[in-house]
Amino acid sequence: MKAIVTGGAGFIGSHLVEALLAKGINVQVIDNLSTGNPDYLPPGVPLHRMDIRSEDVRALLLRERPDVVFHHAAQVDVQRSVSDPGADASVNIAGTANLVHACAQASVQKIIYASSCAVYGDLQTTLVHEDDPTQPISFYGISKLAPESYLRVFHRLYGLNYTILRYANVYGPRQTPKGEGGVVAIFLDRLRKGLPLIVYGDGEQTRDFVYVKDVVKANLAAIHRGDRHTVQIGTAASVSVNRLVQQLQALHGVPIAVMREPERAGDIRHSCLSNAKAYEQLGWTADYDLVQGLKSTYEYEMRTAE
Ligand SMILES: NC(=O)c1ccc[n+]([C@@H]2O[C@H](COP(=O)([O-])OP(=O)(O)OC[C@H]3O[C@@H](n4cnc5c(N)ncnc54)[C@H](O)[C@@H]3O)[C@@H](O)[C@H]2O)c1
Repeated sequence: MKAIVTGGAGFIGSHLVEALLAKGINVQVIDNLSTGNPDYLPPGVPLHRMDIRSEDVRALLLRERPDVVFHHAAQVDVQRSVSDPGADASVNIAGTANLVHACAQASVQKIIYASSCAVYGDLQTTLVHEDDPTQPISFYGISKLAPESYLRVFHRLYGLNYTILRYANVYGPRQTPKGEGGVVAIFLDRLRKGLPLIVYGDGEQTRDFVYVKDVVKANLAAIHRGDRHTVQIGTAASVSVNRLVQQLQALHGVPIAVMREPERAGDIRHSCLSNAKAYEQLGWTADYDLVQGLKSTYEYEMRTAE
């Protein structure tokens, strides 16, 4: 099997590349390195330094004829989407349309798209399900949602097969503090620099933190399952920011300074994804709980700081 991972030099993409390689799958990467790092790629993996909006994508796919394309390349900075909605839409919407069109032309058997819980906005429900309304509250949420419709229409018009994976807050080694869902990466970055952690509001806002290796496992499962389905990938467990601080405190050993600041306008209060459909469609369950995942992430971050 031959695979291409867009955004393969990024946080989640690079873990996926490692896992595909370990399975003996021939894997190549498309990445413009805007936030990615070629050092994250295992030696020997071909990196096509290319923008997903470029015409070159079609030529590459027609030449390489991959069986499956994992689409992770994106503008992932929510704040940037607010300050420059055009640039965000250009990469996430127009870039995806260009890529998916090229996939259809190159007779790719399946595209697996990294979508996001940002498509829901602030639903005020304790557990979100795939058929809940999508009401994004950021331009990033819109630009992650629109490609889902492109995939459905490309399937209708060209028969291109797909699975849409809507991730909860992904965390793990190599995450940049700037990307989506970056609270773990932000806290670890500040810990390394000896800076206090900043908690907004009462710290009782909750997130569903899913470890990157579990997200990779869902992508691998989607190669052969979940055709034409939209599936949430999360732990279905709510973790408050205060609890996250406590867990980090336990790992760090010495007391961590915490600064309290007023609640930020526009922040989602609670976000937790049901994973019943992930089990039903992909046979997927999370292997890592927060304690295990945070320990490996903490150890990685502190090692790289040395
Ligand atoms: N991290 C999360 O919590 C999370 C949650 C939900 C969804 N996602 C989605 O997962 C995917 C990967 O996110 P990540 O956290 O690994 O971010 P990341 O920034 O580490 O990875 C994105 C990669 O895409 C590349 N890229 C950006 N624009 C490009 C372009 N125009 N052409 C080619 N390559 C380009 C970057 O260089 C980078 O390597 C994204 O699609 C993101 O929307 C992430």
